[in-house]
Amino acid sequence: MTVAVASTLTVENHLPADFTARALRQDVVTGLSAPAKWLPPRWFYDDRGSELFDEITRLPEYYPTRAERSILRARAAEIATVSAATTLVELGAGSAEKTRLLVDALRATGSLGTYVPVDVSDAALRTAAAGLLWEYPGLAVHAVVADFEHHLDRLPATGHRSVVLLGGTIGNLVPADRARFLRDVRAALRPGETLLLGTDLVKSPDVLVPAYDDAAGVTADFNRNVLRVLNRELGADFEPEEFDHAAVWDAEHEWIEMRLRARHAMRVRIPAVDLTVEFARGEEVRTEISAKFRQDGVAAELAAAGFEPTRWWTDEDHRFGLSLATAR
Ligand code: AVJ
Repeated sequence: MTVAVASTLTVENHLPADFTARALRQDVVTGLSAPAKWLPPRWFYDDRGSELFDEITRLPEYYPTRAERSILRARAAEIATVSAATTLVELGAGSAEKTRLLVDALRATGSLGTYVPVDVSDAALRTAAAGLLWEYPGLAVHAVVADFEHHLDRLPATGHRSVVLLGGTIGNLVPADRARFLRDVRAALRPGETLLLGTDLVKSPDVLVPAYDDAAGVTADFNRNVLRVLNRELGADFEPEEFDHAAVWDAEHEWIEMRLRARHAMRVRIPAVDLTVEFARGEEVRTEISAKFRQDGVAAELAAAGFEPTRWWTDEDHRFGLSLATAR
């Protein structure tokens, strides 16, 4: 006999209605009127950008997703035992397949009651939640629409929580923002609760650069997508194809930079923020940093934020690191 156990979905929205629109305008004005132009990577991810990122994760050159998945496959049971989480909080949800490895392991130990996906996109949350509700009878899904760089104080306080940030996403933050983010996560947790953090590792630029400049040009298309977002959302008149994609290894900071380089001098209008932007031929816009880490650096950053580094795992080729840290 099959007994259906009801699962429940609640969606809590912490984003003011105009949060995203205002943040985009602010970022565009700040970044494109700076002497060294830049745009934050979060604006890549409209529907098309999210699809392109999905495609990136399947590219032969882009190893991080596969490497992290292999660690999770090997270690999910240990993560479940050590964290003993009854509530799994996933920041920047959407990595659904990796989430399932964790949910499976935590369900197997019998402890997991609630899954809390946190994302800025209500639609993405509902799609992710729907699949999980169907697959895990009895699981409560408490989705939170929020920006995890700003609203960590709004996390539900129920259960013994583990917060996870996978994929190496923390590498998109510059060191000062990273430190602030880790302190905010710590402040949201009670002593004994955990953070599971995925970090891509420093390695040869011969491996790193192709991962961000693939032969099929998918990453180039993903990079240019931010200009299409500005055209649609702000009425801008960028010609995305007139910008070359570049991926550069910065050995001093140990991060990859993605840039868009103007093929010729141009003037771009961005009516929604009443801005005109001049580009010299060859001038670049930095669109992403993706920091690469070392074990001792990750441990030091976690410790500085008030965490005890508890476990460190890598894949067999030592390409990617996964840390489990406990709030002190
Ligand atoms: C989703 C932020 C982890 O930095 O590797 C992939 C985004 N950018 N290819 C990364 C990305 C270019 C990715 N993260």
